Amino acid sequence: MTRLRIGIIGAGRIGRLHADNLLLHPDAEVAAIADPQAGPALREWAAARSIPRVDADAGSILNDRLIDAVFICSPTETHVPLIVEAARAGKHVFCEKPVSLDFRLTRFALQAAERAGIMLQVGFNRRFDRSFRRVKQWAEEGAAGELHLLRVTSRDPEPPPEAYIAMSGGLFLDMAIHDFDMARYLCGSDIVEVYARGVVRIDPVFARYGDVDTAVTTLVFANGALGVIDNSRKAVYGYDQRVELFGSGGSIAADNEYATTAMLHAADGVHRDKPPHFFLERYSAAYREESASFVRSVMRGEPVAVTGRDALQAELAAWAARQSSVAGRPVRLAESEAEAAEAAEPTIGGGSHEN
Ligand SMILES: NC(=O)c1ccc[n+]([C@@H]2O[C@H](COP(=O)([O-])OP(=O)(O)OC[C@H]3O[C@@H](n4cnc5c(N)ncnc54)[C@H](O)[C@@H]3O)[C@@H](O)[C@H]2O)c1
Repeated sequence: MTRLRIGIIGAGRIGRLHADNLLLHPDAEVAAIADPQAGPALREWAAARSIPRVDADAGSILNDRLIDAVFICSPTETHVPLIVEAARAGKHVFCEKPVSLDFRLTRFALQAAERAGIMLQVGFNRRFDRSFRRVKQWAEEGAAGELHLLRVTSRDPEPPPEAYIAMSGGLFLDMAIHDFDMARYLCGSDIVEVYARGVVRIDPVFARYGDVDTAVTTLVFANGALGVIDNSRKAVYGYDQRVELFGSGGSIAADNEYATTAMLHAADGVHRDKPPHFFLERYSAAYREESASFVRSVMRGEPVAVTGRDALQAELAAWAARQSSVAGRPVRLAESEAEAAEAAEPTIGGGSHEN
């Protein structure tokens, strides 16, 4: 294979971003893009990028023998059936996170991928951020000694629209899922227990959907370390993304990036520009590296950087956190998994949009 021929499924915010990044990659070719909203605007957008085919139905990509891999960038409730179909068609898959809002369905999709022997990478883009990678590298080198604590601050600049809240799956599955993954990634250990409190402090609309806009989750890792994640749907000073690992040998931290490094020192204080507005700006380089990593893994037949198991573990933590915040007590991941196993099997469906 000289170039990886890729079909993009879903041409919304994230699908177009991945397409643009892949178009810049020398070893990738964007062969087609599919979206039920395939109208003149999408065709014009694709023509400007010399993407040869725009289809309304993902089936045309899945049935195209010349396409090696698909990027699943459609709404969350479509991910599991599309992974299953792609696996049947023998195509490698990059799937946006979360794989689903129900980890039992995620497990089903993972099994289908494994049976078919295809490669599956999941879209936890923050793992490709250069600052978080440096934190991870130092931690692996033992720079912080034995890990005792992890802290993740993750606050959005503004709440999503009501229609999005209605379908999102809630703060823990929709937003904090990135942070559960970051926690596991940096700590190098699975989360075994969570204790979450969520409240509505920003907009009562969240309560209308049984959701929260502000949350703190404490974590217990398998290696014995503790963690804390704080989430908010609205930080007036911009997208706030910070991490710290603390241990016997010291502390490793990554601060926010800022739009510029310029600072004003004046009589009324010290001023600087705000952080980049939101995830598309803050993580633009990480998204580029994420898709390049997938292309590299498939072309070289090497393991993907973010696996289906990573997706499943983050979903289990998010699921348990939601349960914990409702029950008002700590919840072990194994316990919530066992409870779910006793409940009725889920059907393929559900729904979310996410950032
Ligand atoms: N990793 C990240 O940082 C990140 C950021 C944003 C979104 N996401 C995830 O990406 C997915 C899409 O989110 P978005 O913000 O781009 O949503 P979006 O609403 O902007 O775009 C989704 C697109 O998929 C299309 N679509 C719907 N059903 C389809 C189907 N069966 N086949 C093909 N296309 C279909 C829609 O018409 C729409 O154009 C979600 O799962 C979301 O959680 C991840």
